[in-house]
Amino acid sequence: MAKVRFGIIGCGSMGRGHAGQITGAKAKDFCLAAVSDIVGERAEKLGDAHSVPWFTDNVKLMESGLVDAVIIATPHYAHPPLTIQAARRKLHVLCEKPIASSIGPARAMVAECKKRRVAMGVMFQQRNRPEMRKMKTMVARGDVGEVYRVEMLCSSWYRTQSYYNSGTWRGTWDGEGGGVLINQAPHSLDLFTWIGGMPKRVVATICTRHHKIEVENTANAIMDYGNGRTGYLYATTACAPGVEQMTVCGDRGTLGARRRLNCCAISRRGRISSRASGYRPASSSRFVSPCSIASRHSSRTRTRAISSTALTSSAAGGDFTISFTNPP
Ligand SMILES: NC(=O)c1ccc[n+]([C@@H]2O[C@H](COP(=O)([O-])OP(=O)(O)OC[C@H]3O[C@@H](n4cnc5c(N)ncnc54)[C@H](O)[C@@H]3O)[C@@H](O)[C@H]2O)c1
Repeated sequence: MAKVRFGIIGCGSMGRGHAGQITGAKAKDFCLAAVSDIVGERAEKLGDAHSVPWFTDNVKLMESGLVDAVIIATPHYAHPPLTIQAARRKLHVLCEKPIASSIGPARAMVAECKKRRVAMGVMFQQRNRPEMRKMKTMVARGDVGEVYRVEMLCSSWYRTQSYYNSGTWRGTWDGEGGGVLINQAPHSLDLFTWIGGMPKRVVATICTRHHKIEVENTANAIMDYGNGRTGYLYATTACAPGVEQMTVCGDRGTLGARRRLNCCAISRRGRISSRASGYRPASSSRFVSPCSIASRHSSRTRTRAISSTALTSSAAGGDFTISFTNPP
């Protein structure tokens, strides 16, 4: 099978990250073929680092014949025009989140990709987090029963003022199209709706604290799913260090995932595990110390270790516990 040859557009922090992931994978079916950036020295530096041609004109990259697909890793406002330009040249597109900063251009991107019959994906890599996949499976197969409540507290998106100052597009309505809800928490919102479903009504408040930016950095929302199910969400970039916590409650049990606990185990019927065997954060080479999940749960709670080595993800970069509590 021929390799899919990727071009990366935007050689900033994510563009560099994608380039490293692609070349580091040494995959048989895809490779990095070219890069571009409107800032020549960034394109040159990344192209040279990976020994691929570099461009300062995106259209030249698209028409070079060197690439079959592009990864768009530019600021948000450039996602729609670049996606449409690529689709018109029959190139497949993997676009960084958020797809666009407003709904009209987002719809135009999707329509163009459908019309040109090219694949289009949006970078929601957190769906690959093993603990989130596990939660999704457990909820979908009815382990918690009928879902009554879904909660997500994601204050783990803390950002410094210097982060916002690092690019003129950051923290602005024109550049990002919004704040925490469109730039940082889309990953959390995606997991929230993927696992908990789409609400029918949302009542929300937003505010900006701590940072000198135009857009919101804190959001609170209450969701009504129309079937007795309720959802709560809190997202912020203003709390340090923050936590990430998701809970799904139903008539048969409560399932929760919480970041920042030094263990990785799942509680369910069965033994209490004193350690999560083989658990190793993908972002570091250290093994974590044995967990102490038993002390965190009532005597009625049962736990079952997940023996996989893959119960965390580098994208999330933290230690997670998943717990499942059955009613007595
Ligand atoms: N998936 C994730 O976890 C994740 C994490 C961080 C950022 N992002 C997303 O990645 C995208 C880029 O973020 P970043 O942090 O790398 O930004 P960045 O500012 O570090 O890099 C953006 C790069 O794009 C270049 N650029 C701007 N307009 C361009 C254009 N029209 N054509 C070509 N290059 C252009 C800039 O010169 C810069 O080098 C954003 O959509 C952001 O939300 C995703």
